[in-house]
Amino acid sequence: MNVQIPRGTQDILPEQAAIWQYIEQITRELCKRYQYNEIRTPIFEHTEVFSRGVGETTDIVQKEMYTFQDRGDRSITLRPEGTAAVVRSFVENKMFGWASQPVKLFYYGPMFRYERPQAGRFRQFVQFGVEALGSADPAIDAEVISLAMNTYKSLGLKELKLVINSLGDQESRTKHREALVAHFEPRIGEFCSDCQNRLHKNPLRILDCKKDRDHELMKTAPSILEYLNPESKSYFEKVLKHLEAMEIPYTVDPTLVRGLDYYNHTAFEIMSDAKGFGAITTLCGGGRYNGLVEEFGGPETPGIGFAMSIERLIAALAAESITLPIEHATDVYVVAMGEAAQDYSVKLVNELRLQGFSADRDYNGRKVKAQFKAADRANARYVAVLGDDELNKKTITLKDMESGEQQEIALESFVATLKKQQQ
Ligand code: HAM
Repeated sequence: MNVQIPRGTQDILPEQAAIWQYIEQITRELCKRYQYNEIRTPIFEHTEVFSRGVGETTDIVQKEMYTFQDRGDRSITLRPEGTAAVVRSFVENKMFGWASQPVKLFYYGPMFRYERPQAGRFRQFVQFGVEALGSADPAIDAEVISLAMNTYKSLGLKELKLVINSLGDQESRTKHREALVAHFEPRIGEFCSDCQNRLHKNPLRILDCKKDRDHELMKTAPSILEYLNPESKSYFEKVLKHLEAMEIPYTVDPTLVRGLDYYNHTAFEIMSDAKGFGAITTLCGGGRYNGLVEEFGGPETPGIGFAMSIERLIAALAAESITLPIEHATDVYVVAMGEAAQDYSVKLVNELRLQGFSADRDYNGRKVKAQFKAADRANARYVAVLGDDELNKKTITLKDMESGEQQEIALESFVATLKKQQQ
């Protein structure tokens, strides 16, 4: 059998997994500080959660979903993103009735999109995301953005660019939409078939087309910012004001539309500005989705959130040459010489572990010198040397690998002595 990993997926080997764990720990700590609590939704959902939630005209729904009929002939989809699933759960579990509002949630887990794999683009990737449901205060938009920015900053990233736009409310969007149709319709024949399909269904998405991005009509397309009604304009200005107060630099880009249909008002992306970062520079995307809860049968509830993939975050760390402070240390490595000592070390290592030390020994019949080498590789803080001689004397030699000092300790009190030394 010659089986290889599916395209667009990757194995995370132990050394890399330590990096993933570190990042996850940082995100969890930050969420705690910002008071976002974890939600875990299923890896698969009924297909309509995403087709209706994310939007029928989006690339995700039209081209990228892993959809299949299960044995009960239901259409099931591996989740391509988290927001629609969280909103489904919000409505199903009546979170709109919870005493503390807004409901602030975060999630961390694999998502699946059938995309063309390339650097930074996978078919299975892990998203860390947050959703805040139940507040239409511009301060929560700024909070969500600041949480995303601080995630990157706490890992040491510096070359970041926050791009922000407002898509306005329903009224502003309808007016802008009409203007877009009028702008593109006379020459829509010059655009790709996707854009032609989008003209009447969702003309905003034409602005996001990768094939036609250099067409002259793209540059002269009416900007949403000119169509924002006074309420939408004032909402956007307040978000920006809060960002300024938190000293988060931003760039307003009226062409930022995002690839999912549920957005209105605030839309944002965080890019890596690092030299040498691949073609895909977007690290994080998010925005407001007032109306999505109603789409799922819940009461009128505003919402905002973001999601970022850990794969792109790790790529950004590499582009800025950042190494995370990860320690692979072993507290004690037991080197044993002779059969009796080797047998005894099985019990000793177990005792150390039960007392809370990370401890290891040799399992390959290595000679003493090679055991010391293994202890070195394991980055052992202490090496405990036990030979048949010591065993007869009921002692053990403890070598401090930092100072090089050695001491002989009574076997009986060995674990207790070590505990004292660690304090
Ligand atoms: P999105 O822009 O589709 O938004 O994805 C958000 C982030 O997920 C991207 O910025 C990128 O970091 C990562 N990502 C997306 N596709 C891939 C891929 N194929 N490989 C690696 N990373 C990828 C959403 O998913 C929205 N649910 C975000 C949101 C939450 N909006 C409001 N709340």
